Amino acid sequence: MGFRFPDGFLWGGAVAANQCEGAYNEDGKGLSTQDVAPKGVKGPITESPTEDNLKLVGIDFYHRYKEDIQLFAEMGFKVFRTSIAWSRIFPHGDDLEPNEQGLKFYDDLFDECLKHGMEPLVTLSHYETPLHLSKRYNGWVNRKLIGFYERYARTVFDRYKSKVKYWLTFNEINSILEEPFLSGGIYTPKRELSKQDLYQAVHHELVASALAVKIGHEMMPDAKIGCMVLSMPTYPLTPNPDDVIAAMEFEHKNYFFADVQARGRYPGYMKRYFRENGISIQMGPDDEEILKHTVDFISFSYYVSTCGTADPELRKNSEGNLLGGVTNPYLQASEWGWQIDPQGLRYVLNMFYDRYQKPLFIVENGLGAKDELIKDADGVPTVEDDYRIQYLNDHLVQVGEALEDGIEIMGYTAWGCIDLVSASTAEMSKRYGFIYVDRNDDGTGTLNRYRKKSFHWYKEVISTNGQSL
Ligand code: BG6
Repeated sequence: MGFRFPDGFLWGGAVAANQCEGAYNEDGKGLSTQDVAPKGVKGPITESPTEDNLKLVGIDFYHRYKEDIQLFAEMGFKVFRTSIAWSRIFPHGDDLEPNEQGLKFYDDLFDECLKHGMEPLVTLSHYETPLHLSKRYNGWVNRKLIGFYERYARTVFDRYKSKVKYWLTFNEINSILEEPFLSGGIYTPKRELSKQDLYQAVHHELVASALAVKIGHEMMPDAKIGCMVLSMPTYPLTPNPDDVIAAMEFEHKNYFFADVQARGRYPGYMKRYFRENGISIQMGPDDEEILKHTVDFISFSYYVSTCGTADPELRKNSEGNLLGGVTNPYLQASEWGWQIDPQGLRYVLNMFYDRYQKPLFIVENGLGAKDELIKDADGVPTVEDDYRIQYLNDHLVQVGEALEDGIEIMGYTAWGCIDLVSASTAEMSKRYGFIYVDRNDDGTGTLNRYRKKSFHWYKEVISTNGQSL
């Protein structure tokens, strides 16, 4: 088929510090919420780190990043998305001075990217609040988090301003609705958390995000700072207007975050929701002004679409990504039940662009699957991951279609470009990578890296700028 992607399109891959770095207690790093969540978002929170927590070692990216970046360079990456572990920089979160060793690590990492012609795309907060902020302050429920985040943002902006042009404030900021602990550092168990506290925490994150945009622009005039939301187009299950409205309301709850970050104010439908649910957001005197500092671009993850229905019985039949939704009878699902819908990506790109008229960046997309390591004809270990190639190809074709629709798209970073520990289930066996990492769910394995078939496929896509799709 073949598409003409724009010159300078940022092809690359994405990871998050907590899912790949390991070294959870090295060089002055403090504990984060991830260090006590050995089973991912659905599992229990432990008192202190336990050996069954695969993230403590991750894929040992902390010590092996040079080798990994070399492999990304071999595929031709123009951009590499990663996050900074907040607790490497401020081990407790409320410290007055940063940890120099933590800062140094990211200096070296970003230098390595630049050496290979890759722009770092950096998320400030990707599912890992310093644990102390969670336990002592109840995470983002407490307004003080805004100040701690601001200090952290100022520190890293100042340190990396000559190295990093692209920043994201919070990963999948809307996932706090489902995952208040890992997404928002909220220590109160979800079932005991009031809507009032939940949306107050949301407000604090939105103010902190806008503040980061404001100070980021002041400190780094050439930088581009984006929001990052979990996108999940929600189709009405039937043409029944009740279902259409149910789907619309489901989407409102999901996209109100990007609405505030892109438009600089709360939308009317959220004010209504707050009114009808007895929620009264406590605003600081400058909050409305701060929120006016809107993002330069909209970034998002895309894995699944879902359906909205007004039928309470059918709502119980909810499967899929972090935010739930009703199963679509027309779609197949991955081994983890995530429904596969390439056209949903074109749909969501159009939706965001119609809504905001700002450049878009697809910063996560991919297929989590079980891989089998085999030997190729020369005896070199590899994975014949045609299913992954198919998934990515089908989605990138829809990105090509969206470009034809006239959408401004900055780039595409495939999620988990190297195998890493999954976020929702904390497994190694849910693999996304172009590069296989020899580590198993029981923690055994050499940690050696091997190129999969998709490695060579993606290299070709990048080198032809999408023509090979
Ligand atoms: C997104 C997260 O929700 O989806 C990533 O931003 C995560 O951190 C990715 O890894 C895929 O989810 P999972 O659970 O398959 O790792």
